[in-house]
Amino acid sequence: MKILENTQFELAAAMLQAHYESQPLAFVHSYGCQQNVSDGERLRGSLLRMGFGLTDDQNEADLILLNTCAVRETAEDRVWGHLGALKGLKRQRPELMIALCGCMTQREEVSERVRRSFPYVDLVFGTGAIHMLPQLICQRLSDKKPVFYSSDQPRVVEGLPIEREGSVKAWLPIMQGCDNFCSYCIVPYTRGREVSRAPEAVLAEAQEILAAGYREITLLGQNVNSYGKGLLEPIDFGGLIKRLDSLPGDWWLRFMTSHPKDCTEALIDTIARSRHVARHIHLPVQSGSNRMLKAMNRHYTVESYLALIDYARRTIPGVTFSSDIIVGFPGESEEDFAATLSLVERVGFNALFTFIYSKRNGTPAADLPDPIAYSEKSARMQRLLDTQSAIGARLNAAQIGKTLRVLTEGPGRSEDGTLMGRTEHNTIVEFTGGADLIGQFVEVTIERAQNWALFGRLAI
Ligand code: 5AD
Ligand code: SF4
Repeated sequence: MKILENTQFELAAAMLQAHYESQPLAFVHSYGCQQNVSDGERLRGSLLRMGFGLTDDQNEADLILLNTCAVRETAEDRVWGHLGALKGLKRQRPELMIALCGCMTQREEVSERVRRSFPYVDLVFGTGAIHMLPQLICQRLSDKKPVFYSSDQPRVVEGLPIEREGSVKAWLPIMQGCDNFCSYCIVPYTRGREVSRAPEAVLAEAQEILAAGYREITLLGQNVNSYGKGLLEPIDFGGLIKRLDSLPGDWWLRFMTSHPKDCTEALIDTIARSRHVARHIHLPVQSGSNRMLKAMNRHYTVESYLALIDYARRTIPGVTFSSDIIVGFPGESEEDFAATLSLVERVGFNALFTFIYSKRNGTPAADLPDPIAYSEKSARMQRLLDTQSAIGARLNAAQIGKTLRVLTEGPGRSEDGTLMGRTEHNTIVEFTGGADLIGQFVEVTIERAQNWALFGRLAI
């Protein structure tokens, strides 16, 4: 573990003050998963500490920082598109600094493409170098030529300033990296091997979050269930949850992502006994076919997955599940896909995140023959979405008439003047109420339902 020294920020602040006539502004955009959003919050915090102001308008920014995602080609394409669109801005204002960080930058072919096609990018650094931001910006200002910093393995750096994005729900990373090597996934190559944060550091951050008034904490890691590997103090994820659960107050604890191979009955027992852990588990299954699970290197079977779901349902009354599913993995037959549909029906997830397989160079699956036409993959995706939409509608309709506890998160989506929040089961609820309820737990009586949300009124 490394503790960051303040001098790096002070040196950078002095250099920025000398370089810019007025306070420079930074625009930070994070693509991809919550882990990346959480990295983005540390980048924003670091920029503030260096003396930057933050802006949502890239046209007025002195620094544009794109925190990228590499999980699918579409995620990368969005970044390439964004970079292309910045060319004009850079021509108008050559002093604008454009920086790229995050998962994409860890890929050799990406750095090459940046050098070749986007020579106006000033700074490129990887997921393991977030704590290097002050030095890298200073280097760019003094060198007058682009800086490419390729970092080694990710490490846990404590003490980075954090500028969180919301005021009700907070992200709390408990580990970095991934050791699982699912055959389709780029993450172990972009984020490196698993490293856990010390439990004291996690606990201290949770205390800070709660003291700042947040009502929900989501623990983040690529595989939270393997938390604790390599730490001096013997502790596992269940142990960490128990320690966090002892923190007082009215708040919910969530976590993601769980890997079914490491999610144990003991962990489910811990959740059942906890006061703060929300009764909802995000448990990505990826496929309902054992043949595909093997090819994906997932190390569990449909049967063991369903047994875990059944155990959780018996142990945690009312628990709900969400999942990730990949459609059209190389070699997925109609039978394999039908098995996925039947698993989805059998579990009855209350939300599903669905993705068409995207080939990632450097992963084992990229070498597999992939004869299925994209049009067939899209058709399967539509069938999966239709199946899930019917399940969502059915599960939500069953809530009509009930009064549910809801954490109010912000304005609603359906109508002006509505608020939205979630139940501990992670179901979205919209209702009418004043903005003073944001950040409060309220009771809502459900009057109608759609497949994506419940609608109701405040119970008196
Ligand atoms: N193609 C499509 N989906 C992918 N995911 C990860 N890698 C790929 C890929 N190459 C999905 C998985 C994972 C989620 C975060 O992204 O479902 O759980
Ligand atoms: Fe997150 Fe994976 Fe995308 Fe990296 S590649 S930002 S870990 S989803």
